[in-house]
Amino acid sequence: MAKQILVANWKNYPDSIEEANGLVARLARKKRLYKKLNIFIAPPLPYLSLVAGKAGFAKLAAQDISILDKGTRTGEVTPEILKSFGVRLAILGHSERRAQGESSELVSRKISAALRSGITPLVCVGEKERDADGEHFEFLRSEIKASLAGLSRQSATKLAIAYEPVWAIGKAAKDALLPGDLAQSVIFIKKVLTDLYGRNVAEKVPILYGGSVESANIGVLAQGTGVAGFLVGHASLKPKQFEEIALSLSQK
Ligand code: PGA
Repeated sequence: MAKQILVANWKNYPDSIEEANGLVARLARKKRLYKKLNIFIAPPLPYLSLVAGKAGFAKLAAQDISILDKGTRTGEVTPEILKSFGVRLAILGHSERRAQGESSELVSRKISAALRSGITPLVCVGEKERDADGEHFEFLRSEIKASLAGLSRQSATKLAIAYEPVWAIGKAAKDALLPGDLAQSVIFIKKVLTDLYGRNVAEKVPILYGGSVESANIGVLAQGTGVAGFLVGHASLKPKQFEEIALSLSQK
């Protein structure tokens, strides 16, 4: 069976290089545990070298990607540069970026840019709110369709999806999505992918969950919900929490 995928989204933390050093050193103490997983760390860009050098148990990920190719691009970090650091995966269309105006159309261009550079796109989708009538499924369907617009079947096999209901992000385990609802959403996302690309392709796309994943809920969220892994924000910055999450997931 494929290893579970665990992506640490550090967002804009830790606050300083000293703290980042401390976090990496602390995580490295449990490197044998992390080797049981397919683990990625997505740090703020200035910490890429630090993570690459001292966290050999993890692969590198980016939190975003420029749609521009190399050239005179002041202020941009092009996919080529990320690739040269060893970045293998990019979180694209995170809701915190969409909230700043990033459209699904731009996300689709970022997916193409990532694929051109051999970087796996981890495409974030998720409803802003959930309602009893299931309207959120329609939202999810159109967000997926718009984000993957123009993507060929062949390219779709190289994607991963992170299902992150916006309302569940940055809270505590008790406020996260319930396992039954997660299982339903995973089936729904697979159905949308099947409609777009056929069943063979849909089965190849790993679906991750993100949104208040902590050591207290990782067990139930990983059990029978059909997810291939997790995208973890705040708990990835707390070494003890992160170790517990990794331990629980490595036993699945
Ligand atoms: P959270 O963040 O784990 O802090 O909810 C997840 C994410 O935003 O990717």
